[in-house]
Amino acid sequence: MRKLVIANWKMNPDAPGRAAALARKIERILPPRRRVEVVVAPPAPFLLPVGTALKNAVLGAQDAFWADTGPYTGETSPQQLRYLKVEYVIVGHSERRIHLGETDETVNKKIRAVLGNGLSAILCIGERERVGADIPPLVGDQLKVALAGIKKELLKRLVVAYEPVWAISTTAGTSGPDTPDSAFRARLYIEKIISGLYGRQAYKSVRVIYGGSVRAENVGAFLREGKMDGALVGSASLDVKEFGEIVRRAAAQ
Ligand code: PGA
Repeated sequence: MRKLVIANWKMNPDAPGRAAALARKIERILPPRRRVEVVVAPPAPFLLPVGTALKNAVLGAQDAFWADTGPYTGETSPQQLRYLKVEYVIVGHSERRIHLGETDETVNKKIRAVLGNGLSAILCIGERERVGADIPPLVGDQLKVALAGIKKELLKRLVVAYEPVWAISTTAGTSGPDTPDSAFRARLYIEKIISGLYGRQAYKSVRVIYGGSVRAENVGAFLREGKMDGALVGSASLDVKEFGEIVRRAAAQ
């Protein structure tokens, strides 16, 4: 299966011209679409200029609200994002859980709304701290609550991003990326939970990706040994050369 590489620009860059320029530069170095799927998720105010600049890559949003329209000041609905040609929406990123108080319950409402509106959801789960080698049960709980009430038919548009918070490059005191071996164990754990909820084969329709200090030098190992279907890339996605190399290595898998 084609690997999936997501560029999460977070709240960068600072101006629309720079965002469009970055998107154009990324476009120039992308391999053909049939070899790798690339999603670029810029800040919401730049969805339009970035979306216009993208050809091979598809457009992603970093968040969405659960209602279609209504009295929700400052929010944007999946339906509204569709008009901007958004195809993927990141939901429940740890930075939103930490800084904006997002809970497993609000994440669940958002996942329902995103999938219900025909978009693909990138559900972020991951522990803040790891003691020992095991993936903490909290990760399974995050997944179970996020998927409550989601019909099996919608799983084909679900991507689960295992993103241990301590491995994210901008986390204070980060100890660097997780290991491919541990990412593989996270994958098995996620598969087990999805199978428990939806039946034995259901996990096959869900893509599981890794995020947290992904670089060109480690992406191959996460995809190969970690058996990951792709990567969620933060800081390195703002560096055209580094991101280009990550995508090239993903396409070579
Ligand atoms: P990072 O961020 O690649 O800079 O660690 C990943 C993320 O937070 O999505």
